[in-house]
This record gives sequence, C-alpha cells and structure tokens, in this order.
Amino acid sequence: MIESTGSATAVSILGTGAIGGKIAQTMLAAGTTVTVWNRTPERTDALAARGSARAPSAAEAVAASPLVLVCVTDYAAVDAVLEATADTIAGRTIVALTTGSPAEAHQAAHKAEQAGAAYLDGGVQTEPENIGSNAATFLYSGPRSAFEEHRATLETLGSAQYLGADPAAAAVQDLTLFGLWYDAQVAYLRALETIRSTGIDVEDFAPLAATQLGHVVHATAGTAHEVKTRSFPRGPADLTEHGPVLEQLIELRRGQHLGNGALDHIHHLVQQRIELGHGREGLTTIIE
Ligand SMILES: NC(=O)c1ccc[n+]([C@@H]2O[C@H](COP(=O)([O-])OP(=O)(O)OC[C@H]3O[C@@H](n4cnc5c(N)ncnc54)[C@H](OP(=O)(O)O)[C@@H]3O)[C@@H](O)[C@H]2O)c1
Repeated sequence: MIESTGSATAVSILGTGAIGGKIAQTMLAAGTTVTVWNRTPERTDALAARGSARAPSAAEAVAASPLVLVCVTDYAAVDAVLEATADTIAGRTIVALTTGSPAEAHQAAHKAEQAGAAYLDGGVQTEPENIGSNAATFLYSGPRSAFEEHRATLETLGSAQYLGADPAAAAVQDLTLFGLWYDAQVAYLRALETIRSTGIDVEDFAPLAATQLGHVVHATAGTAHEVKTRSFPRGPADLTEHGPVLEQLIELRRGQHLGNGALDHIHHLVQQRIELGHGREGLTTIIE
C-alpha cells in the first residue's frame, strides 16, 4: 500500500486520458508529488517516465495523497471509482473533474461524503493544451474549507473559480457555458450556411461575423444587469422593430439544413410581449 505523504502538494490523479494526463504533466512540472492510476494501466507509462508514481489500484492511488483528482469520462465512471475506493477515501478531498448534470454531482457528493471524504465538484472550461496556463478556467463547488485548503495546488492548473457550497453549482455552470458555446457556434454555422447558399465566399463574411458576435460579447454585463433588475431599455431596437426583421429572417432561412434557430418561437414571444404592452422595450424583455 502506498501511504499518504500528508503533504498538501501530493496529488493523486485517477484517470489519465486527455484531461487527467495533461493535469498530471502540469502537476509534475510544478514539482508536485503525483500518483496516477488509470483503468488501462499502460496509459500511465509516459507519466511514470516523467516521474509520477503509479498505483496498482484506484484505492491505493487515493490512499497516497490528501488531494485526489478524478478525471474520468462521466459520472457513471466517477461512481465506479467511488465504489472501488470507499474504504480508502475517508479524510481525503475528492475533486471530480467531469462534465455532467447537477443531479449527478449531488449523487457523487453524497457518496463521497458518506465514505468520509470532502467532495468538490469541478468543471473543466478548457482544452487539454491550455491546462497550466492562464487560458484555462476550472470551476469548483462544495465545502469552501476543502477548496481553500487546496486552492494553491488547484491554481497550478489555471484560474480556479470557487462557485459556492452547493456541489451542483460547478456542474450547472459548466454545462450552461458549454450550451452557450453550442448556441453561438451553431448560430455562426447557420449564418455561414445562408451565405454559402448565395454564392458569397464565407471567408469574406467571417470578419463581418466577428464584429457582430463582438456586439453580443460587449453587451454581456449590461444584458445580465437588465435580466437581474428586470428593466428592459430599448437598446439598438425595440420589439416593434425586431418583429419584421425576424419575419424576414424566417423567410431567408426557410429550408436550411441547420434550421432557423427557433426563430418562429422567438417571433411568437416578441408578438406576445408587444400585445402585453411592452413593444417599446428591448429584446431582453422576452425572458420574462
Ligand atoms: N478533452 C477535453 O477537451 C475536455 C474539455 C472539457 C471537459 N472535458 C471533460 O473532462 C472529462 C474527461 O475527459 P477526457 O477528455 O480526459 O476523456 P478521455 O481522454 O476519453 O479519458 C477518459 C478517462 O476516463 C477513464 N474511464 C472511463 N470510464 C471509466 C470507468 N468506468 N472506470 C474508470 N475509468 C474510466 C478512461 O480510462 P481508460 O484509459 O481505461 O479508457 C480515461 O482515463 C469528461 O467528463 C469530459 O467531458 C474534456
């Protein structure tokens, strides 16, 4: 059995795929004592060559360090790992860096805490290549004391954002941010489909799209303030002006492979708000 060194800079990493492997490399480069375990053991060969200890089982990896990062595919795999380590995780801080639902995060927190561990849920808002740089953001939620105890080690990986005591907070914000990316990226693809169908060079259109997407980015704080305060100033246009543009867009996108981006529904909401007397408000009012 590998024994814990008791050092705050000793970390065990369970799962050495794309994310776990890069985390292990980053921790090793920072001088951290690293122990790894992977279901397919040969995937840890390169890390062992760089100086990582290898545990023969998940339970022994957990026993080796006070901080344990679980970097596996999904919460079913997290559950399998927690099951296999139930006898050794008491007193450890377990951080699950897995994309999943808020309910799954709650279940994992409950299971880890039942076995006597502190549990932090984590969200990885970066590609593996950026881990260890300022371009990487990691989201954490769970007991503040566990986060503070290991904050310095976690900051080795990138910006460490603590989102509160509810273990589901990281999962819900992680998934919501991925959703935001899908919405924006698919909106851009939809625009490129329209442009391509007219014979215009999509690469010529790209800088115009960048300026337009920039308006959304520029307005993020202002829009959040409008939603929070439920005040909906006109902004660049009011609902009576948005309505006809939406109708033209629905027509322009008719028959598109990527659909029209639920513009029928948005148009319906705009009409509804106009009928309720909110026609002079800005688009944010449709969230009501
Ligand atoms: N890669 C990205 O760009 C990225 C970005 C943001 C978030 N994420 C999230 O980060 C998490 C890890 O992603 P990844 O890219 O590192 O995945 P990956 O490269 O596919 O690696 C998955 C890891 O999970 C292990 N695993 C799967 N099922 C298991 C089980 N039942 N028991 C034990 N181990 C199991 C695999 O072990 P084997 O080697 O034995 O298969 C492997 O170590 C995912 O939730 C993903 O959504 C990834």
